[in-house]
Amino acid sequence: MLPPPLILFLVTFSIQISSSSAAAAPPIGHQSHFTKHNYHLKNDKKSDSYPQYFEITRPLPLDTLIPSCTLPVFSHVFNNTIGLPPATAYYFPPANCTWSNVTLHLSVASNVSRYDPIAGVWLDGAEILRTSTAESSADGVFWNVRKDITRYSSLLRRENLTLSIMLNNVVNDITSGVYRLKLTFLYYDTHSNETNTDDVNILSSSFPLYQKSTVMKRGENPLISSSNREEKSLDLYEKPADLIIPVSGIGDEGFWFKIENDNDVKSVGIQIPSNTYKAVIEVYVSFHGNDEFWYSNPPDSYIEQNNLNTKQGHGAYREVLVTLDDNVVGSVIPFPVIFTSGINPLFWEPIVAIGAFDLPSYDFELTPFLGMLLDGKVHSFGLKVADAISFWLVDANLHLWLDDNLKEVQAMPIEYSVPSIKLERESKFNQLDGSFKVEVESKSEYSGWVNSSMGNLTTYVNQELNFENTIKFDNSGTEKVVKQEVKVKIEIKVKSSTGNSISSTTVERKYPLEITTTTVVGSAKNTYLMTTKLEHSLKEEKSDDNFSSTLSNRQECRGWVFVRDHDVLSGAATTEQSYTYKDDNSCYSQKLTAANGVLGNNTSSLLCSSSL
Ligand SMILES: *[C@@H]1O[C@H](CO)[C@@H](O)[C@H](O)[C@H]1NC(C)=O
Ligand SMILES: *[C@@H]1O[C@H](CO)[C@@H](O)[C@H](O)[C@H]1NC(C)=O
Ligand SMILES: *[C@@H]1O[C@H](CO)[C@@H](O)[C@H](O)[C@H]1NC(C)=O
Ligand SMILES: *[C@@H]1O[C@H](CO)[C@@H](O)[C@H](O)[C@H]1NC(C)=O
Ligand SMILES: *[C@@H]1O[C@H](CO)[C@@H](O)[C@H](O)[C@H]1NC(C)=O
Ligand SMILES: *[C@@H]1O[C@H](CO)[C@@H](O)[C@H](O)[C@H]1NC(C)=O
Ligand SMILES: *[C@@H]1O[C@H](CO)[C@@H](O)[C@H](O)[C@H]1NC(C)=O
Ligand SMILES: *[C@@H]1O[C@H](CO)[C@@H](O)[C@H](O)[C@H]1NC(C)=O
Ligand SMILES: *[C@@H]1O[C@H](CO)[C@@H](O)[C@H](O)[C@H]1NC(C)=O
Ligand SMILES: *[C@@H]1O[C@H](CO)[C@@H](O)[C@H](O)[C@H]1NC(C)=O
Ligand SMILES: *[C@@H]1O[C@H](CO)[C@@H](O)[C@H](O)[C@H]1NC(C)=O
Repeated sequence: MLPPPLILFLVTFSIQISSSSAAAAPPIGHQSHFTKHNYHLKNDKKSDSYPQYFEITRPLPLDTLIPSCTLPVFSHVFNNTIGLPPATAYYFPPANCTWSNVTLHLSVASNVSRYDPIAGVWLDGAEILRTSTAESSADGVFWNVRKDITRYSSLLRRENLTLSIMLNNVVNDITSGVYRLKLTFLYYDTHSNETNTDDVNILSSSFPLYQKSTVMKRGENPLISSSNREEKSLDLYEKPADLIIPVSGIGDEGFWFKIENDNDVKSVGIQIPSNTYKAVIEVYVSFHGNDEFWYSNPPDSYIEQNNLNTKQGHGAYREVLVTLDDNVVGSVIPFPVIFTSGINPLFWEPIVAIGAFDLPSYDFELTPFLGMLLDGKVHSFGLKVADAISFWLVDANLHLWLDDNLKEVQAMPIEYSVPSIKLERESKFNQLDGSFKVEVESKSEYSGWVNSSMGNLTTYVNQELNFENTIKFDNSGTEKVVKQEVKVKIEIKVKSSTGNSISSTTVERKYPLEITTTTVVGSAKNTYLMTTKLEHSLKEEKSDDNFSSTLSNRQECRGWVFVRDHDVLSGAATTEQSYTYKDDNSCYSQKLTAANGVLGNNTSSLLCSSSL
């Protein structure tokens, strides 16, 4: 049982609402992120352990197995790291260890942070994790991130690679909090018969987070009944790639590229091996600065004509584009991950926003383009963000599968239609009130054949995207409603030269977002009261010939904050989340509530009722 929620804060400021708009500069027209400098969640109570934050996910299938080896890879205190290059360590795979699958466990603890910097983890310049960090109130905070990194196996088997972690922390007169990170890789042999019975709970570690760098070897574990929980891979491929080539920067400020405007294209020339029979590019992305809340940015004309003191403009449409020799070969409107200082920072205690600790990456099937790539020449792989303003952090990994039996495979593109994009914008406003709408519809189709030792196979890729965003301002701009809907459908079919279907995969994603904020100016200088409401979800359906899964992850948050400048002085919030994953073999469901920083109801179940 969880303790009942405490009465957590005292409103020590009398909130008097003044009708004069001269008293403060509330965030009209734009979205703010906040600090919690003066906001104490618990009544200054000093406890010896920090509270834990969570991103709600399901257990990984690998969690039920005993790892063959556990490798503490990296442990570091990020003190004042602003302007410094990433922290690094040399990576060696564990010696004498048989493994087929790997998970990453990152433990982070912070004593008082008023920032929520973005962090990235790279192996030999290839990104393996993008995570945001939690802003904490006076108590400090810790959290854990787990991720299946089996897809990076070809890197994980190599010796002496540089592992880099970038996290820009600020320590100065005002703030002295540090971040302690501990990164551990767990290696599993899924062909062995062992299952996890003792609670090998490396997740329950709490601050402090130091551990000796030793490789722990599997002991004589009793053989338990054979595990049949091996989840069928639903990625664009069955087995991990044979070679991963980063499409990333030089690494002095992290390997990501910083994109600051629409014309900014970052590219890398790559010559791929001539026996490549399959290629996928995986893109990592996060948005910051004036584009942190890109989905709520009004057009520039609204900002200019109202003389608003914000640069968060350029409308609310952004699309990340992957280019190959200047042709667009993939695009995505990213899932709008909200960091812990965003919208209302009290929403994200202790449950953070969807994707905040493990930002999604996006895969694009490039096999139909192998006909262009297998000519032995260097080709340019590029990344850009349509309509971007400063700044976006993007990079990518090119995953390549190689034919062991051949020196060269043959390939030809069949169809490449320039993606058809229909973009419509509507804008009407009178002073601070008005409404803005952007609608995008795009379709793309690619196909090509590859004649390898597996036969002459043709890959067809079909992608459909629907995007709609509306922003409405009422009450002299003090009431703002943002509604966004993104729908994507990707179909990949592989056929033999006789026309037989080899495989057929469909992925559908929907991610609606709705944000309502109402701002009222306070009587004290530079203060305002903001009420906030947020509904956010991710729905994903995947299926191939033999397997299907659905995920539904939804958050609903309500609350208010009383703010001076960007500092939260007081406030209250509740967050409700429901998470349900279902596939042909298993089901997992969690429903939680959090109110004012305390986790309330938590029901979770491995057996969902059929109505879910
Ligand atoms: C962090 O850096 C400051 C000086 O910049 C130093 O005084 C402090 O001891 C450092 N803290 C840790 C934990 O290294
Ligand atoms: C690996 O195992 C072999 C044979 O069991 C042993 O000779 C060798 O010393 C081991 N190497 C390491 C690094 O443990
Ligand atoms: C690992 O690589 C670094 C630099 O690339 C080198 O200095 C170091 O000696 C290497 N370590 C081993 C054990 O090979
Ligand atoms: C956080 O921890 C570091 C290292 O122990 C210390 O130097 C710093 O003063 C602490 N900051 C706060 C606000 O407790
Ligand atoms: C797993 O168990 C089966 C039957 O008990 C046995 O035949 C097989 O060799 C075992 N596999 C391994 C890798 O131990
Ligand atoms: C292990 O990795 C393989 C290859 O990616 C995958 O097919 C399999 O499902 C994974 N097993 C588990 C238990 O995650
Ligand atoms: C490609 O196709 C031709 C004719 O179908 C076949 O003879 C050849 O062995 C195939 N493989 C390669 C790698 O060219
Ligand atoms: C492979 O199949 C495609 C479509 O079926 C065909 O056009 C092409 O000529 C074939 N390639 C080879 C080498 O047989
Ligand atoms: C589906 O199952 C059939 C028969 O078990 C197998 O031949 C086929 O390769 C499987 N398809 C995929 C995409 O895994
Ligand atoms: C738990 O759920 C019940 C009913 O759904 C609700 O009335 C109650 O307020 C919740 N408790 C907390 C702490 O959120
Ligand atoms: C909710 O309860 C389940 C089952 O007891 C547990 O596995 C899960 O970690 C809990 N969630 C949180 C955020 O504490």
